[in-house]
Amino acid sequence: TLPRKVRIVEVGPRDGLQNESVPLSADVKVALIEQLAAAGLQTIEAGAFVSPKWVPQMADTAEVLAAIDARPGVSYPVLVPNLRGLDAALAAGVTEISVFAAASETFSQRNINCSIGESLKRFAEVTAKAHKSKIRIRAYISCVLGCPYEGAVSPTVVTDLATRLADLGCYEVSLGDTIGVGTPLAARRLVETVGTKVPIERLAVHFHDTYGQALANIYATLDLGISVIDSAIAGLGGCPYAPGASGNAATEDVLYMLQGLGIETGIDLDKLLDAGAYITAILGRKNQSKAATALLNR
Ligand code: HMG
Ligand code: MG
Repeated sequence: TLPRKVRIVEVGPRDGLQNESVPLSADVKVALIEQLAAAGLQTIEAGAFVSPKWVPQMADTAEVLAAIDARPGVSYPVLVPNLRGLDAALAAGVTEISVFAAASETFSQRNINCSIGESLKRFAEVTAKAHKSKIRIRAYISCVLGCPYEGAVSPTVVTDLATRLADLGCYEVSLGDTIGVGTPLAARRLVETVGTKVPIERLAVHFHDTYGQALANIYATLDLGISVIDSAIAGLGGCPYAPGASGNAATEDVLYMLQGLGIETGIDLDKLLDAGAYITAILGRKNQSKAATALLNR
């Protein structure tokens, strides 16, 4: 059965912008985040405390966080790869972070310059310190349905990693199809397999739309009990270390589908369209959401 309510985790300001070549000012990011919050999104990933040499577009995350007029009830998590990132997040006053692992050794090396085992050691330090500071921690696993360097990825590897991350106290584990190669059957099998070890209520799905499967994959996992969906405004997104990967599922498309299914989200589609129009105009590119494009051309 489908969930009655879904929480959408808006990753546009982070996943959506991290790979952009157009330099954006902190003011633009803040305006985007505030428009997304005004549309009713309750979790908005606001940036990343990663190396500015690796991902220049996220270098101003502290500035962005300082300028946001934070709304009560809205969480603004940031990515943290190591203790250095956690310290920066704490100094910026964040209340929620996300650690990010990968289900493929090669991707782990390319993305965070260490093995999966080493990353788990780092995350153990990060989560221990974060918990002392009462910070909530979310976790990502990349390459859950395939790796750009290694190809097929076993659901068992994903399940073991998800279990380790949940055991570290991450309240939710988001399953990332980084390169968008998954199809609905594979997505269902993955969620079913991981769900035997980590309760489905603690899982989220994060589908990139490279092969046009993101919305189908989301639908396929909804009736397994998935009720947290990651998506990006205007279908922005991509990972600098996943060549060829395109944007995330577009938030507008996800919302349009959920509304059609009678599922509550607390999000206002018209206000979301405004946010998408704002950022696509600045980036000078077409909105990747079909629903947004159709609705704006009515
Ligand atoms: P490293 O080079 O191995 O780190 O990078 P290091 O500890 O040797 O430090 C090297 C330099 O980076 C030093 O500076 C450090 O101070 C600095 P230098 O002395 O050369 O001037 N440094 C930092 N600076 C700022 N913040 C930090 C930090 N740590 C070290 N936290 C590191 C290791 C993890 C830092 C690097 O590989 C990195 O930043 N990687 C980030 C990659 C990234 O952001 N990828 C995109 C996000 S993941 C994603 O998109 C997937 C997801 O959407 C899910 C999905 O779709 O699958 C989440
Ligand atoms: Mg992603």
